[in-house]
Amino acid sequence: MSSYREFYRDRPVLITGGLGFIGSNLAHHLVTLGARVLIVDSLIPAYGGNLFNVHGIENRVRVNIADIRQQTAWRTPTPTSRSTAAASSRCSRRAAATIPG
Ligand SMILES: NC(=O)c1ccc[n+]([C@@H]2O[C@H](COP(=O)([O-])OP(=O)(O)OC[C@H]3O[C@@H](n4cnc5c(N)ncnc54)[C@H](O)[C@@H]3O)[C@@H](O)[C@H]2O)c1
Repeated sequence: MSSYREFYRDRPVLITGGLGFIGSNLAHHLVTLGARVLIVDSLIPAYGGNLFNVHGIENRVRVNIADIRQQTAWRTPTPTSRSTAAASSRCSRRAAATIPG
């Protein structure tokens, strides 16, 4: 746990589908580890996304309501070098990977 904490402390992390079940649980955990979390979620009604899922950490995450299939979704400041992307939407692989700087 301490190595995780060290790795994620102050690290920018992007979570796609971060208002859904898996993504929001990931967001809660990463915030606990000290990461700077950016959530991109479309809140498509048929899915399980809800702003309530980030209740308690709403002041510690940034949320961009956007569809990742649209280029405009990526216009917000996104993690750059040494950053980590955690993909959790249905159409993304459920994985976390470091983006090469
Ligand atoms: N309370 C519970 O126990 C609970 C609640 C919901 C889901 N589940 C379970 O969790 C699993 C599903 O969880 P999940 O997290 O994969 O699904 P989810 O539907 O909860 O979350 C997917 C998220 O991705 C977002 N999304 C989808 N397409 C997108 C796009 N193109 N651009 C941006 N965002 C997009 C959705 O808006 C949603 O917020 C299922 O097994 C389900 O039964 C359990």
